[in-house]
Amino acid sequence: MRISLKYRIAIIIFVLEAIMMTAVLWATLNHSEDAIREQFASNERAILEVMGGISHIALLTGEYSGLQPYLENLLQDSRIEQVMLVDQRGIIVAGTRPESIGRFPATFSTAVTLDPETQARKIWISKNIKDEDRLLGVLAMELSDAELVAATADAGKLGVSIAVTGMILIAIVGLVVGSLLTWRLAVVTDAANRFAEGDAMARTGFRGDDEISELGQTFDKMASSLQASAEESNSLIDQLSEKNAELEQFAYTVSHDLKTPLVTVKGYVGMLQKDLQADERERIEQDLGYIVAATDTMGSLLEDLLELSRVGRIVNESEEVSLTELFESVAAGMHLQIASRGADLTVQPQMPPVLVDRQRMAEVIQNLLENALKFSAKSNPPKIEVSASKEDDIIVCCVADNGIGVEPEFQDQIFGLFNRLSASYEGTGIGLALVKRIVEVHHGRVWVDSPGNGEGARFCFALPSIEKAA
Ligand SMILES: Nc1ncnc2c1ncn2[C@@H]1O[C@H](COP(=O)(O)OP(=O)(O)O)[C@@H](O)[C@H]1O
Ligand SMILES: [Mg+2]
Repeated sequence: MRISLKYRIAIIIFVLEAIMMTAVLWATLNHSEDAIREQFASNERAILEVMGGISHIALLTGEYSGLQPYLENLLQDSRIEQVMLVDQRGIIVAGTRPESIGRFPATFSTAVTLDPETQARKIWISKNIKDEDRLLGVLAMELSDAELVAATADAGKLGVSIAVTGMILIAIVGLVVGSLLTWRLAVVTDAANRFAEGDAMARTGFRGDDEISELGQTFDKMASSLQASAEESNSLIDQLSEKNAELEQFAYTVSHDLKTPLVTVKGYVGMLQKDLQADERERIEQDLGYIVAATDTMGSLLEDLLELSRVGRIVNESEEVSLTELFESVAAGMHLQIASRGADLTVQPQMPPVLVDRQRMAEVIQNLLENALKFSAKSNPPKIEVSASKEDDIIVCCVADNGIGVEPEFQDQIFGLFNRLSASYEGTGIGLALVKRIVEVHHGRVWVDSPGNGEGARFCFALPSIEKAA
């Protein structure tokens, strides 16, 4: 059987208090009974002393009628059962029971007798009455403690009713104390149950520094960290399935795009066979030219793919790199390309430094600059502007051009592998996928702003500042 802690505490308090109360009650009653008994007997002894004087005279004179009313008067004291005066012969000469006067021998003893009905004790006390050394007689008095027993019983009843009331009160106090001590435990249990049933927000919300508050706070901490790790693993699962989907898409596009030049090669090889049979020299050279172009395309596809697969797999040490310096050094390597298109490139001086894999970041910049050049070649003149700014912990760097722009509905697509918007520009469609991967490996993100429709595009990437990346 399960007994709640609240009731256990109440029971313990109740039992302890009950034992204490019984002990106190017992001691009080016993003490008072003894005290009353003692006083009781001493009162009667004093009476005996006083009456002894009168009895002395009566015994000397043999005149008892004067004594008789005094003795009868004594019966007003309810504790006195009977009184008798016995002379030296043993004959009752005066007493409160007239029928026994003149009887012999007088019987009284000092033993205590017990009334079987009332449980009252009866006791004889006596006084020897002497004249000088001569014994004249004995004055004896029978006492009963019936009244005392009744008084003690009343006191007992009162005591018991006080004790019972006290115990009921104590039982209530026990329950209240038990509840006060355990209600917060019930809160912890409730929170734990709710948490176990899937309510991730279940907390006790306890403050304070007593043991139960600490228990609640420890539970809250545990629940929070469990919740955090559950969230973390959920987001890992999401990321993983996203990556998996990406990988499937990747395998599909790679095989598809690699097949295209192969189909071209196969087609022209067939043509080549026919042209060889017909010995058409000019067409043979044309066929060969197409075959070489297709294999070139395949070569650069494979090269770019290889580069893409290296990102994240081969990681160089991160170093502090000035964006201005990096852009300038990449642009220097492209100066022929830039000059041949008459492009106007401006790089903002003193752009903030970043903590990056220098070689990979150079690839990002190279791809963005190449695209900007390629897709603004027909503008007059092509204008490319590089700038960067720092917002809180993030560095945002943008390459803006005045080229063909990207329509808003394609702005996400172009970062996918092999996605190109126009076949009239050369390319493999891998560049921006590479840019995206490299930036993401650096815990950043990349996007494009463009109104589309020939109005230029602004490609931006955001990276954590040096203080945050370190
Ligand atoms: N600066 C730009 N202006 C307009 N369109 C762009 C620009 N950069 C990239 N794009 C679009 O995004 C596509 C994908 O770019 P990218 O991945 O670098 O492939 P590629 O350069 O080989 O075509 C491009 O084919 C083009 O349609
Ligand atoms: Mg490109």
